[in-house]
Amino acid sequence: MTVTRSAIVGCGSYLPKRVLTNKELALTVDTDDDWIVSRTGIQKRHIAAEGECTSDLALAATREALAAAQMDADEIDLIVLATATPDQTFPSTATAVQAGLGITHGAAFDVQAVCSGFVFALAVADNFIKTGQSKCAAVIGAETFSRILDWEDRNTCVLFGDGAGAVIVKAIEGEGTSDDQGILSTHLHSDGRHQKLLYVDGGPSSTQSTGFLRMEGKEVFRHAVTNLSAVVREALEANDLSTDDLDWLIPHQANKRILDGTARKLGLSPEKVIVTVDQHANTSAASVPLALTQGVKDGRIKLGNLVLMEAMGGGFTWGACVARM
Ligand code: COA
Repeated sequence: MTVTRSAIVGCGSYLPKRVLTNKELALTVDTDDDWIVSRTGIQKRHIAAEGECTSDLALAATREALAAAQMDADEIDLIVLATATPDQTFPSTATAVQAGLGITHGAAFDVQAVCSGFVFALAVADNFIKTGQSKCAAVIGAETFSRILDWEDRNTCVLFGDGAGAVIVKAIEGEGTSDDQGILSTHLHSDGRHQKLLYVDGGPSSTQSTGFLRMEGKEVFRHAVTNLSAVVREALEANDLSTDDLDWLIPHQANKRILDGTARKLGLSPEKVIVTVDQHANTSAASVPLALTQGVKDGRIKLGNLVLMEAMGGGFTWGACVARM
């Protein structure tokens, strides 16, 4: 029997043009640059233009990922798009991307795991490819969180931004080893007991409105460091690897202090952690592919590097993926 595995063969990203700095934000809400930088590491965020939707961001990132992979949209037979801020309640934002790419074959659907969404979407695509149901997937994380923020709530509005990242995941024949290019494993978790610590207070079935993001920041912080370090250990152990084997940790970009806390708990050198949260704040499902693409574009992440992606989000949901680039 032929064994198939999946590999990431191209990365792309898109950030809306409009940049909102901490200083600008401090003109409209009771905060200041020093507080935001010292508590979060965030310096600025990008905000989607009026009429610019999650699917527009997603499409731009996917086109860049296809170009990086030197592939045509025709080769894609699966689109898995992670978002908590879809264009509409339905149809899925993934189908808008499919139409934008000009393809009508294959399947396109959204995955909802908030900030962990990209890792969940990657796991879905990896499994579709491993079972032979797909040959080539576009896996996208795209968000317009600016649309669900209460811009009068300083506890939350300073923390998030808009953006999109995408990867092309392709089937490769043969079992491969941990030295060969490919996704080695994915690890997903959820614990629905903590819904009220990070949620949106609206939705089609409950309030018939979109609602705003609400969060108990301190509690989320505590759970994040614990769950993320645990899932990183789980992913390493599953592959008989140690932190020393990793070339790069690509964490969900929520808060610099969460990144530092997790790296410290794992005994991982800060030089091995890709950090982009300073540049675009927390972009939820987009943050891992944005960081991955940044690392590839600036030459830090090279072909053959071993990377570990991890994320945690509302639900709670959390997960990790180990991949050889
Ligand atoms: N500007 C200025 N002051 C602010 C502020 C802001 N933007 N936001 C909150 N504060 C104030 C609070 O009102 C509080 O004031 P008080 O002591 O008078 O009540 C004070 O700062 C301290 O708040 P605290 O909650 O103790 O701060 P913190 O050190 O826990 O940092 C977060 C707050 C939100 C940055 C931090 O808890 C965090 O990052 N949590 C995780 C959030 C996250 O990443 N969520 C997404 C996960 S996917």
